[in-house]
Amino acid sequence: MSDKVYIFDTTLRDGEQSPGISLNISEKLEIAEQLARLGVDAIEAGFPITSHGDFEAVKMVAERVRGPKIVGLARAVDADIDRAWEAIKNAERPMIHTFIATSDIHIERKLRKTKDEVLKMTEAAIKRAKNYSSEVEFSPEDATRSNFDFLCKVLEVALEAGATTINIPDTVGYALPDEFGKLIHELMLVVPGLNDVLVSVHCHNDLGLAVANSLAAVENGANQVECTMNGLGERAGNAALEEMVMILDTRYRTLGKKTNIKTEEITRTSRLVSMLTGYQIQLNKAIVGANAFAHSSGIHTDGVLKERITYEIISPQKVGLTESKIILGKTSGRHALKQHLEAMSYSLNDDELERTFVRFKELADKKVEITDDDLEAIIADEVRSTKTEIYSLDYIHVASGTDEVPTATVRLIKNGEIFEKTAQGDGPVDAVCNAIGEVVGVSTKLLFYNVSAITGGLDAQGDVTIQLDIGGKKVIGRGVSTDIIEASAKAYLNAINKSLSK
Ligand code: KIV
Ligand code: ZN
Repeated sequence: MSDKVYIFDTTLRDGEQSPGISLNISEKLEIAEQLARLGVDAIEAGFPITSHGDFEAVKMVAERVRGPKIVGLARAVDADIDRAWEAIKNAERPMIHTFIATSDIHIERKLRKTKDEVLKMTEAAIKRAKNYSSEVEFSPEDATRSNFDFLCKVLEVALEAGATTINIPDTVGYALPDEFGKLIHELMLVVPGLNDVLVSVHCHNDLGLAVANSLAAVENGANQVECTMNGLGERAGNAALEEMVMILDTRYRTLGKKTNIKTEEITRTSRLVSMLTGYQIQLNKAIVGANAFAHSSGIHTDGVLKERITYEIISPQKVGLTESKIILGKTSGRHALKQHLEAMSYSLNDDELERTFVRFKELADKKVEITDDDLEAIIADEVRSTKTEIYSLDYIHVASGTDEVPTATVRLIKNGEIFEKTAQGDGPVDAVCNAIGEVVGVSTKLLFYNVSAITGGLDAQGDVTIQLDIGGKKVIGRGVSTDIIEASAKAYLNAINKSLSK
């Protein structure tokens, strides 16, 4: 048996199904390029039939990103498969991923079909996909709640029709590790054809077991795991890529399985995904949480200082967590910035470099020491506000104080035209958001607001995350600035722009 476990990343598809996430094309491309740098074997870039935006994003990823397979999701129906192929056909290694539910509850209540019809649809979908693409993945949705004999029958049909990867999803996160491991083991015994294809698993985290279940599957013969960065995904999310990979890496001697992931890229990928999706990472999250390598008790700190391995099972460098260095200052020029960004593996075009340089200089006027973390935040903020931005923030002025009604004036630009409005609010942030709302003419309800600091110190950049309800849909926005009112305005506008561009 091979010692390789392939990592199929679905951050841009299942991850994007997390409530409130809505990535635009340039954000998806930025994440896909970083996933390729991370070394994932496949990137599920989206579900092309679902919207024009998703189709365009998948197409762009397929045309630009080289290395991993680029995957488009499709239900087992002709229109989905045709659209998925249209989106991915220019990829270096395209793959169609088609799925149909196989549990009684899904077949009867959701699909309203018979089992025979499901078998026929499976066969037809895979054959149609195979006419386009040599690589086809098939998933029997809700596999863990499906009748075992029927599941085997569906898989036999899928293999016979030419599927090259069979993915077993625990769609509702119901399985227990022993059960799921046994399911994979038994499927491989009863359906011998599975030994000739990639056997993949896709676990959801409703009971907090997504990674444990994926691991049990790997120990029982699965050789691909579907994951998302930071564990994003529908409801409680999917198996977290960083956890799965670092389990296999840290416990290699016991498990004997390797991945192609460049673990040093994990921290950067995690931060980029968090910045662009607006989903902040829980402080004590394994591997990528801010406290994952922090030791606070005296005994632990003393131990680590004497010998790191007393309390650390992974070195922070292994996941790319280096001291955020003080790198540049007020006097640094374009060339120094470019060189430093290249050393951080960013290759920006002239326009992006210029905009980053302007932001860098503005920051250097306010903050003495500029670190890698500051630069990462600036770049993510700039990516957020590129071409697909509908309104851009040109100017804000806020008057507020203990005896004053907070009042804000904002100037926004749309297609070169300037719009200005003044509004009042309960506080300065509320006043700014009201003024933006007046210009844009969109009514919103604030569901969540959070501000945190990118680095330590009083001059740190503020990182604001906002979740809005816009016309019944949840949308997340994020913005960064040394001025938290400006960061809030950017976050608010970012959410509105996303909603308008959908
Ligand atoms: O959770 C699930 O079943 C899915 C399938 C499309 C693989 O996301
Ligand atoms: Zn899923």
